[in-house]
Amino acid sequence: MIQVEGLTKYYGNFKAIDSISFHADAGEIVGFLGPNGAGKTTTMRILAGYMPPSEGQASIAGFDVFEQSLEVRRRVGYLPETVPLYKELTVWQYVDYMASLRGMRGPERADRVDEVLEMVDMLDRADSLIASLSKGMRQRVGLAQALVHSPDVLILDEPTIGLDPRQVREVRELIRDLGQDRTVLLSTHILSEVNQLCSRILIINNGQIVAEDSPETLAARLEGATRFFVRVGNASPEEVAEALRDLETVTDVYPTDQGVEVTSGRDNDARPAVAAVIVNRSWDLLELRPLQMSLEDIFLRLTTDEDEMEFQQEEVA
Ligand SMILES: Nc1ncnc2c1ncn2[C@@H]1O[C@H](COP(=O)(O)OP(=O)(O)OP(=O)(O)O)[C@@H](O)[C@H]1O
Ligand SMILES: [Mg+2]
Repeated sequence: MIQVEGLTKYYGNFKAIDSISFHADAGEIVGFLGPNGAGKTTTMRILAGYMPPSEGQASIAGFDVFEQSLEVRRRVGYLPETVPLYKELTVWQYVDYMASLRGMRGPERADRVDEVLEMVDMLDRADSLIASLSKGMRQRVGLAQALVHSPDVLILDEPTIGLDPRQVREVRELIRDLGQDRTVLLSTHILSEVNQLCSRILIINNGQIVAEDSPETLAARLEGATRFFVRVGNASPEEVAEALRDLETVTDVYPTDQGVEVTSGRDNDARPAVAAVIVNRSWDLLELRPLQMSLEDIFLRLTTDEDEMEFQQEEVA
């Protein structure tokens, strides 16, 4: 449904996105995750047909996003990062106007405007001037206009930002429902959001996709043998930590109440060496199990420079 190949965008001399490729199918909710300035909004604006790429190609339902932007806009609902609302219109007038721009006509259009306002819980504010709305309400009106023409593809740039907790939950449920037979690409900084909603995550950093996977496999891939927990019967966690600290394959040890958390290099399983130390000292090995890495850890690991990582770890320690 969404097909992106070698997409690159320069702002002047600055390369904001660098040869990005990915695809998203119908019935898939794909999460775009990345720090500030990673290039999420840039990519999404290009996909929504609002700006041409410098290089590369993107198509939606087979239509080129720039060459055939009219066809694309009919099929795409786009929630921009900052929703450009017409402040002198009422909520109802604005959504109705957006529907007319997407080629909707007749009584169906009016019914549909009511319907989407109901979906985002804004029907009771239909006659309010946009200028008088709170930030979260504007976000919800932005969502309503993205949905009004029942698009097959939804591109949502941080859809839950600024919403209160109840609305966050409702909007997520709405997105989940919509994602069952549509294609949804959403960007967010909220890791639990991608975890809850997305079947696939694209992690973008400095304009490049640095990882692409399901939330589960991404966690598994990064976690692998890299972090595990060791508990022995007849030595204190501090003693064990001390003994493991200097092993070549061990990059970090951290004694806890019960045992020791050990980190090893990604391709450098430290478990055999750790087990050998424990046997040599005649300690009783009670537990040796991999630790799940949270998406938070993964995100930081994939998007943070090594130097910064060390700095952060020092700060924590
Ligand atoms: N109109 C513009 N002119 C020049 N540079 C821009 C413009 N828009 C974005 N950039 C730059 O391109 C890079 C990517 O920006 P973009 O808005 O796509 O990031 P983002 O991933 O959406 O970040 P955020 O999480 O803060 O929304 C940034 O370095 C930004 O400063
Ligand atoms: Mg952005």
